Amino acid sequence: MPERTVTVTDNHSGKSIELPVREPTLGPAAVDIGRFFRELGYFTYDPGFLSTASCHSRLTYLDGAEGKLLYRGYPIEQLAEHSNFLEVAYLMLYGELPDAEQLTSFRNIITHHTMLNEALKDFFRGFYHDAHPMAIMVGVVGSLSAFYHDSTDIGNPQHREIAAHRLIAKMPSIAAASYKHSIGEPQVYPDNRLSYTGNLLNMMFSVPCEEYHVDPVAEKALDLIFILHIDHEQNASTSTVRLAGSSGANPFACIASGIAALWGPAHGGANEAVLDMLREIGDARNIPAFLARAKDRKDPFRLMGFGHRVYKNYDPRARIIRRMCHEVLAKLGDENDPLFELALRLEEIALKDDYFIERKLYPNVDFYSGLIYRALGIPANMFTVMFAIARTVGWVAQWMEMIGEENQRIGRPRQLYTGPSTRDYVTLDRR
Ligand code: ACO
Repeated sequence: MPERTVTVTDNHSGKSIELPVREPTLGPAAVDIGRFFRELGYFTYDPGFLSTASCHSRLTYLDGAEGKLLYRGYPIEQLAEHSNFLEVAYLMLYGELPDAEQLTSFRNIITHHTMLNEALKDFFRGFYHDAHPMAIMVGVVGSLSAFYHDSTDIGNPQHREIAAHRLIAKMPSIAAASYKHSIGEPQVYPDNRLSYTGNLLNMMFSVPCEEYHVDPVAEKALDLIFILHIDHEQNASTSTVRLAGSSGANPFACIASGIAALWGPAHGGANEAVLDMLREIGDARNIPAFLARAKDRKDPFRLMGFGHRVYKNYDPRARIIRRMCHEVLAKLGDENDPLFELALRLEEIALKDDYFIERKLYPNVDFYSGLIYRALGIPANMFTVMFAIARTVGWVAQWMEMIGEENQRIGRPRQLYTGPSTRDYVTLDRR
């Protein structure tokens, strides 16, 4: 096929330029505007990146109109049904599913990097007793570069790999320690006999004075939720990690910046916000009043867990998680949980409402994940932390992909300046 191009004509100067089109494996092609400013003297303007591809990537593909999500080409539904978190993590980092030996070796490496440096304990003690676990995570993950100098030479692929392993392995330990600090209980060391999610549950819920058994239903449910949250192409937190990483910042600092971006309620903080919203609605009879508020432009209230920048169809992860919600509540919690019933009713009413239909607003993954976490006994302030643990795999894989590229350059967006034009300083006595 001949190379596609797009011709852009400046109607002001009459000058035309022909821009090459970069072809994808799937999805829309992208016009390469790298020469745009040099040749036409204009920047392009696209706040919120509605039409702008910030990079090329071989990791994740999502089709928002179809409601389709692929990790390295594999449909999320197949990975959710047949795979497990560490196997998918390997797939994301190395590009292919591991064979049995590779998987065993990867599991061993991750398992043997789960302990935290003892000095890190003092960091946790420095946080106020009721600090949000996400606030603790941002700080502690950022501090890891002070402990692991030996893996911060980002020009060395081996260092990058060790840093990736450390981050994936230590994130559950940091998350659990953040939680333990927030409830005043002693930190629990990782146990190498347990699975990735079993270990996390043990570190969160066991105490030194009692025996604790990991519930296999909880362990499996968490593993599945983690698979669904591993990566989601160039979302806000991933783009933050890439931008921070493009300057050559160390991987621990980059992932800390991703955690900070994830915390926002329009992103990973939505799962916590959904439960707050359901509690606020309280009763199915109040749904119409809250829907009216969500539709009112003057009211900042939005239906949390609804809508997505890319999905204009049912979020495929929400479909999987919705099914799991029934199973988990039946086995561990209460299938008649009033909040779950309220969520189902709210979804049903919103999906029939013209406002939501016209804008293609469907439930996203966060609409149901909080209900599952609640059934697993995970408190609301840990919901986004759970998301961060899983997403660390995506962040790290995206960071490795970017740093490993030839001609990798610092990310430096342009701007449309709308402030005052040049003016002279006025001394204080004349203002
Ligand atoms: N409730 C009510 N109206 C909504 C909602 C919502 N949840 N989401 C979007 N809309 C409306 C907007 O007001 C806008 O209406 P208009 O055309 O009349 O102005 C229209 O739908 C388009 O919405 P945008 O804000 O332009 O969509 P955008 O892509 O910028 O935002 C976002 C996407 C941030 C996810 C948004 O839908 C939202 O705030 N949802 C609630 C928060 C949430 O669930 N976030 C989790 C996202 S998934 C994740 O991070 C894992």
